[in-house]
Amino acid sequence: MIVARPLAAALAICLSFATAALAQPKPEHGDEVYQPSVGQAGKDVIWVPTPDSLVTQMLQAAKTTKDDLVFDLGSGDGKIPIAAAKQYGAKSVGIEYNPDMAELARRNAKRAGVDNLVTIITGDIFKEDFTRATVVTMYLLPDLNLKLRPIILKMKPGTRVTSHQFHMGDWDPDESFTQEYRNAYLWIVPAEVAGEWQIREESGGFQGTLSLSQRYQKVGGTLTLPNGKPQPLLGASLRGDKLWFSFVDGENNLRTGTVTVAGAKLFGDLSLSGRTTNVTGARK
Ligand SMILES: C[S@@+](CC[C@H](N)C(=O)[O-])C[C@H]1O[C@@H](n2cnc3c(N)ncnc32)[C@H](O)[C@@H]1O
Repeated sequence: MIVARPLAAALAICLSFATAALAQPKPEHGDEVYQPSVGQAGKDVIWVPTPDSLVTQMLQAAKTTKDDLVFDLGSGDGKIPIAAAKQYGAKSVGIEYNPDMAELARRNAKRAGVDNLVTIITGDIFKEDFTRATVVTMYLLPDLNLKLRPIILKMKPGTRVTSHQFHMGDWDPDESFTQEYRNAYLWIVPAEVAGEWQIREESGGFQGTLSLSQRYQKVGGTLTLPNGKPQPLLGASLRGDKLWFSFVDGENNLRTGTVTVAGAKLFGDLSLSGRTTNVTGARK
């Protein structure tokens, strides 16, 4: 028994080492040879990762859900696509030019257990198609954001775009937020609403011509009544494909339209003193 005790202790130590070794995530092939360094050169911009807390806040601001398809443009080690998958259950895609970085991101996604949701494309953000995305994230540079802006503005209205640090030129963000002294911004791709719309209540009551001018998500205009009198819109706003506008009608009543824009048509409600009726519209 006296001899058995140290033997048992030695066995227990060996066993705990073996268990600890098994519990450690096995380094994937490649990690030993590829260790990126913050600030390393990239095709159009260097690699600097977004801090974890800001990644979460950017995805939160974009109201990411499991039904989203998130694209990170210039995805580095894959932390944003991985967070979108892990925290929100969203399918996500990273586009990364550096093939070593892209491979590292794939290994990271596997280690995080979300390689079923995360795809990393080795490619150039200016060549790959990301227009299927419902959420776009980026940490690039002001001129790169501007270069991407025309593509983004053609994407489906309501697509959320969030950028760490950099703006989108004269397209003001819909929201701004700060985390750990870093700024980030959110834009919602606006529907194209500029022009003239013939609107009518489905009940056959009210009808008029809505004339809208637009700069990105900022809208204004007039509502011309059947008597030909243009009434200024007293308030108008656009968020994605949702448009709100108020005007005073021929009987001096305030009416408010809450409509969804779908291409050359719109549909929704027109309210008057708490009474709501269906309204439809079409481009003139
Ligand atoms: C500032 S880092 C951001 C990484 C990651 N999105 C994040 O926020 O943690 C920019 C990344 O874009 C990559 N990159 C630079 N130019 C690119 C291009 N034209 N196409 C794809 N990736 C690019 C760089 O290699 C780098 O990994």
